[in-house]
Amino acid sequence: MGHQTRATFGSKLSAVLVAAGGAVGLGNIWRFPYVAGENGGGAFLAIYILCAVIMGLPIMLAEFVIGRSSHSNAFGAFRHHSNLWKYMGFNCILTSFLIMGFYCVVAGWTIEYTVHSVASGIARSTLADEHAAYFSAFISNPWRPVLYTAAAMLLTHTVIALGVRKGIERCSRMLMPVLLIMLVVLAVRSLMMPGGFEGLRFFLYPDFSKVSARTLLVAIGQVFFSLSVGLGSMITYASYFKSDTDLRTTAVNVTVIDTLVAVLAGLVIFPAVFSVGIEPSAGSSLVFITLPSIFATMPLSTVWSTLFFLLLAVAALTSVISLHEVITACIHEEWHIRRRTAAWITTLSITVLGTAASLSLGLLDGWRIFGLTIFDALDFVTANILLPVSGMFSALFAGWVIKRTTFVDELTGRSMKYSRQAEVVRILLRYVCPIMLSLIFLDNLGLLNWL
Ligand code: TRP
Repeated sequence: MGHQTRATFGSKLSAVLVAAGGAVGLGNIWRFPYVAGENGGGAFLAIYILCAVIMGLPIMLAEFVIGRSSHSNAFGAFRHHSNLWKYMGFNCILTSFLIMGFYCVVAGWTIEYTVHSVASGIARSTLADEHAAYFSAFISNPWRPVLYTAAAMLLTHTVIALGVRKGIERCSRMLMPVLLIMLVVLAVRSLMMPGGFEGLRFFLYPDFSKVSARTLLVAIGQVFFSLSVGLGSMITYASYFKSDTDLRTTAVNVTVIDTLVAVLAGLVIFPAVFSVGIEPSAGSSLVFITLPSIFATMPLSTVWSTLFFLLLAVAALTSVISLHEVITACIHEEWHIRRRTAAWITTLSITVLGTAASLSLGLLDGWRIFGLTIFDALDFVTANILLPVSGMFSALFAGWVIKRTTFVDELTGRSMKYSRQAEVVRILLRYVCPIMLSLIFLDNLGLLNWL
């Protein structure tokens, strides 16, 4: 496919909002607060921000360079620069597929909660226990969550089928600003709750005694997951950037927006968690159990809960779209299949995997992989293993395989003024990211215990 015929995003703002739409998702609002809660609150936040700056941002820049310089899907992009490395493309496709397998299930839950909020006022009871009972009954039900998973995939499919401009771009431009405003309003409300300050303290006070090498791995996994780097989402989106889109400012903006949303989500959730007396490390159910009990304390509770879950659904869907596009673009361009057919192949296969993941929380609970349900195994393996590994390869690829001049020109828009910055990023990619990632892996395999 020649690149003249390839779609591009309309403006620079669109580039930022689309990439931020892909990055901001359940990872920020659903996953970040509970991962932070389980790993030492404020200390985790500090490590998270450090990892985002020295690893997340450079790897995002690397993916932007890989994508825009090749004008191609993830597989084609690696091949464009090196025939040997094209197999990295497979890894991108496989990991996107596995992430979507559990992600679309949670996206489905957010849709159910939206519908449920409108239909029967989910936020009537202030008792977290009641919401906990509802939540566990719902996710282990043999068919309802499966239907909502399919609904999430169909919505995603519709946007993908509308195309890069009319679907993906329009959707992100409309929805991202609304999401930010809602989060700010909710954070203010949450902080004003009785006992809310305790939560704020827990979230922001750094207690480094809880930090271990494992925390670092979890933080890096979360950075990669949240920023959508490591598996070609950003490569694919950057391939639709215009040639005058400034990659540096785009990446910095996306990283800042993404981190801001995660912090805001923490500010919504922790004060409220402490206020209603739930364990901050309650895990993946925090958003679905805690928030409804908080909404119940607010005037117009139905309106709040409906808006919140709608926006959570939106955040989730813009991310599922970014993952879907990785696979659709690849099938479409590599196998020369019509885009629509490619989109259907993706949608249907993900729906099958999602169904298995959803059922593993109830009916198929007995099917365990290393003791984990299919759902938890997909989450664990992708975020803690596949993403960091493929993030490392993206760093090595951009640092060592892509020509220095291509890298610097692409990043700086050929302006000498910024070539220093580009060199710093290149050093981070060539040495710092790979070395840190390898050390963390070795440590987790127990190979550094002699130190
Ligand atoms: N970043 C998204 C979130 O935070 C999830 C996501 C979308 C993703 N595309 C990705 C994660 C690519 C890793 C890689 O919810």
